[in-house]
Amino acid sequence: MSAFLHQRPLHTPSSYLDDLSPRSRQNYQKPTSSLLSRSPAVLVLLLLSLLIVAGVLFPYIQSPGSLLSLSSRSSDSKWRGYTLPDAAAYVARNNTLIVCAVSEAYLPFLNNWLISISRQKQQEKVLVIAEDYATLYKVNERWPGHAVLVPPALEAAAAHKFGSQGFFNFTARRPRHLLQILELGYNVMYNDVDMVWLSDPFPYLKGEHDVYFMDDMAFVKPLDHSHELPPPGKKGRTYICSCFIYLRPTSGAKLLMKKWIEELQDQPWSRAKKANDQPGFNWALNKTAGQVDVYLLPQKAFPTGGLYFKNKTWVQETKGMHVVIHNNYIIGFEKKTKRFKDYGLWLADDYASESPLGRL
Ligand SMILES: *[C@@H]1O[C@H](CO)[C@@H](O)[C@H](O)[C@H]1NC(C)=O
Ligand SMILES: *[C@@H]1O[C@H](CO)[C@@H](O)[C@H](O)[C@H]1NC(C)=O
Ligand SMILES: *[C@@H]1O[C@H](CO)[C@@H](O)[C@H](O)[C@H]1NC(C)=O
Ligand SMILES: *[C@@H]1O[C@H](CO)[C@@H](O)[C@H](O)[C@H]1NC(C)=O
Repeated sequence: MSAFLHQRPLHTPSSYLDDLSPRSRQNYQKPTSSLLSRSPAVLVLLLLSLLIVAGVLFPYIQSPGSLLSLSSRSSDSKWRGYTLPDAAAYVARNNTLIVCAVSEAYLPFLNNWLISISRQKQQEKVLVIAEDYATLYKVNERWPGHAVLVPPALEAAAAHKFGSQGFFNFTARRPRHLLQILELGYNVMYNDVDMVWLSDPFPYLKGEHDVYFMDDMAFVKPLDHSHELPPPGKKGRTYICSCFIYLRPTSGAKLLMKKWIEELQDQPWSRAKKANDQPGFNWALNKTAGQVDVYLLPQKAFPTGGLYFKNKTWVQETKGMHVVIHNNYIIGFEKKTKRFKDYGLWLADDYASESPLGRL
């Protein structure tokens, strides 16, 4: 019910839906009726085939449940051909997309994040990059057109285990998706779904820079800190978070994504390093410095979880200034969920009706 209320009733990805139903039905009906009037033999044949069709359908007619699953399976399969360019064109507002990349295990976090975005009235720009078919079907069934899968789909098992090769594979695809969206000419905001918006981040994307991001360092900075790339830390690189990135479709932003892809290829996953995509992003920032116009978002508005959830004094001092909260510096679904609940940031249970997906 609530999911239905939030759907746009008229705008469905039309060129796409056209291919799948009305046109093919029309093509079929016309020749049938004209043949009918000409030949009784055709009529007999037609009746026969109707009987066969009825025979095939009979088991499903007895059980409405299986009939439903039959029809949902056929509507599922149509989303397999839905491409990133189709989806971007359908979802973009003001030439801008908000994207996340999720596998099925993250659906509760997706919903939590979506509720917080809906409260800022920015949800229509959201495109979910589904990493598996279950996610693609589930999102598009409830919110048609808002999920896309860029093949190949990830193997579901282990895809979400932080530090595993599956997790690395999952994150290593993000810069490719972002680059493709930039090549299509859109502005794009990438978010991890373990984030919650407390207010609208768009007014904070000041000026006309190529890329905007937040620091993942937990030490407290002055309220008026610089918006330049910070100096490298202990590991010789910066600790910019790959969790929140806004990019304009400029040559600088594209260069940064290309460099990030290269960095991930050059430093592939190893059990010892338990890598994720963030160091690669920071090396890419280091190597493109001077060629890319960057903007570090204010810490008071975009604090790392390592600060927000760990320093009550700071949270009190900066009260009313927080914009996006990232539930990081903690590992595991249960711990993340519990922490969001403890801080009143778990919206997915009590406010599911505010999500365009409804209750999942
Ligand atoms: C559309 O984008 C422009 C430029 O990025 C921005 O200034 C403007 O506020 C946006 N309008 C809406 C309705 O989001
Ligand atoms: C990750 O990607 C590598 C290289 O593409 C592949 O060989 C491996 O099977 C993948 N592993 C998982 C768990 O997805
Ligand atoms: C890039 O990394 C090198 C090695 O850690 C460092 O010396 C240099 O200052 C970094 N450059 C920038 C712009 O951060
Ligand atoms: C916590 O925040 C306060 C206020 O901003 C700051 O003075 C203090 O150094 C911070 N504590 C830690 C451990 O970073």
